[in-house]
Amino acid sequence: MELVRNVFFVGFMGAGKSTVARKVARSCGVASLDMDKYIERSCGRTIPEIFDEGGEEAFRRIETDTLRELCGKDGGMLISCGGGIVKSEENRQLLRDGGVVVHLMVDADEAAARISDKSSRPLFNDIESACSLCAERRPLYEEVADFTVFTGGKDLRDISREVRRYLSQEGVICQQQG
Ligand code: S3P
Repeated sequence: MELVRNVFFVGFMGAGKSTVARKVARSCGVASLDMDKYIERSCGRTIPEIFDEGGEEAFRRIETDTLRELCGKDGGMLISCGGGIVKSEENRQLLRDGGVVVHLMVDADEAAARISDKSSRPLFNDIESACSLCAERRPLYEEVADFTVFTGGKDLRDISREVRRYLSQEGVICQQQG
């Protein structure tokens, strides 16, 4: 199969973006990329280390630079983004212009249950603040989304199937030419 455009997965921490991107990529034989891992590799530091050293601001600068770099590459990829990618208008514009955006909608309780290692998420503190951050960001995810999957009560395999069906219907994933 072939991916004709980039597909960005957005949604709150713990929505399953990386796993779903990977599963869809495997089942279609296309490439996927986890933006946070990519950032960690290119900076030689973990996300918590970047936050510790330069604060959220430093991380956001790297995140925007990385998004711009990925948008400038040829060929489609399934890209899972960090949960805060939609915070800046600049990033939202890059996402809208750069491909198809899939929003995996999750509530904070379910997200908390899915995140096993909270120490790897500097912005996931307690459940109350996660709930308000999740509510604050939801309209921003929706602003950029071409397609939203309600993930509540579904397993990641079903969510991946739903995404794959949508991408095929829209001609974003198609049979390779020639
Ligand atoms: C963040 C989410 C994280 C990571 C960073 C900030 C956020 O990614 O980018 O810790 O602001 O929501 P995940 O959504 O993959 O956990």
